[in-house]
Amino acid sequence: MERDRWNSKMGFLLAAIGSAVGLGNIWRFPYTAATNGGGAFLVPYLFAIITAGIPILILEYTIGKTYRSGAPSALARINRKFEWLGWFQVMIAFVITVYYTAIIVWVISYIGFSTTLAWGADPTGFFLEYIGLTSSALDFGGIQGNLVLPFVIIWAVTAFVMYRGISKGIELACKIALPVLLLLTLIIVIRGITLPGAVDGLNYLFTPNWDRIFDSSVWVAAYGQVFFSLSIAFAIMIAYSSYLPKNTDVVNSAFITATANHGFELFAGIGVFSVLGYMAFSQGVPVEEVAAGGVGLAFFVFPAAISAMPALNGFIGVCFFGALLFAGFTSLISIIQAVITGISDKFELTHKKATTIVLIPSILVSMVFITGSGLIILDIVDAFINQIGIAGAGLLEVILIAWFFDPEKLRAEANSFSNFSVGKWWTYTLKIITVIVLGFMVIKNTIDFATKGYGGYSSGDVMIFGWGALVLCIIVTIVLTSMKGKEGFANLSKSDKEVK
Ligand code: ALA
Repeated sequence: MERDRWNSKMGFLLAAIGSAVGLGNIWRFPYTAATNGGGAFLVPYLFAIITAGIPILILEYTIGKTYRSGAPSALARINRKFEWLGWFQVMIAFVITVYYTAIIVWVISYIGFSTTLAWGADPTGFFLEYIGLTSSALDFGGIQGNLVLPFVIIWAVTAFVMYRGISKGIELACKIALPVLLLLTLIIVIRGITLPGAVDGLNYLFTPNWDRIFDSSVWVAAYGQVFFSLSIAFAIMIAYSSYLPKNTDVVNSAFITATANHGFELFAGIGVFSVLGYMAFSQGVPVEEVAAGGVGLAFFVFPAAISAMPALNGFIGVCFFGALLFAGFTSLISIIQAVITGISDKFELTHKKATTIVLIPSILVSMVFITGSGLIILDIVDAFINQIGIAGAGLLEVILIAWFFDPEKLRAEANSFSNFSVGKWWTYTLKIITVIVLGFMVIKNTIDFATKGYGGYSSGDVMIFGWGALVLCIIVTIVLTSMKGKEGFANLSKSDKEVK
């Protein structure tokens, strides 16, 4: 079966950057930085990029490119016993797909709402009414009628791109979306920094609070941000690089992807906090009073800030939600592709068949998030999947490769086509530093969730949707690993299993 491939290395890089730059950059980063030491956060953040982000990106690009398969088959080719980890990562991608879509559904509506500033004087109340929020996770309240149209739109466009495949679908979509995203973000930044009070917002974001640097939770937050933001440890980058020719320079690709992603993140942070600074200024309150992260930032605070602007309110609203749409969409297609590649490679299905098999359950399950309790479930699932799931998947990946396989072989493979070689620091960083920090992170987060629960939700809700999401990932992982693939990895010849 002919394997699709990127049209050019540039196409691959744009897709990888499109995957990395997502909702996480715009609504997770600025708030995480501001509340975890401000400027001082940049120290653990940079440390996390150097000790985990870039080394794992090089690792995943090398695995994908060398073994030419999605995460489960590629890991199985390294060692038959590693396949399960690939499926666990694919399952995390599946779970993220189903709630990520819901956020894009809201974003699409808000592009429309921006034109008339439909949220009026009470953006929070407006949003909660719009999503029909109920009081607990199990009180679904049915599918919300006004979310159906954007839901159909996002899935129709996503299906269209996914069916067209890697080069004609994803690559083309990223080539169109990324320049638009950059332009929209540029408009927000320029508008933001020219508003009165912007400096206060930037001071809040960047003033270092050095005491926080000794706080382990700040380090955990930095690692979490880098993993989600770089799209590592949930099967995406292995899938994407499996469509590369073998002679691609993966070391420089990893540096380019990381630089573009984190550069964009800081840039977007400047735009977001300038606007928050302005909002605080116009209300005569300190910045921390208006700052919020996640859903709160995009759907409560920003709409209020947009309404408060002196001019061009609707236009800035469309730019902001347009940026979220383009950033989110290029990430969404990568997350789904991670699942499609995993399925099609193990079971040797055509791209179209695998796409259908993945899209049907994704669409069905994502409907949960357009019910009245969608926001509550999303909040719980997102926390558990990120703070335990992705961190755990990253930890296991590093342990298996660095301790139970010879990472030096992969280093040699990475270096064989690279302009500049990655040194032995890479192996030692993965083997020691990354394992220690991620190990600490997973244990700390697990204990915190187990003892304190999450977000003030009832223990039943957290049990079903938080722990439940993780258990579901594990069960499906076991099932998919035990199923016999068409290829039967056991039949791979020895040379296929090993890096030359
Ligand atoms: N990397 C993607 C994001 O930041 C998933 O949203």
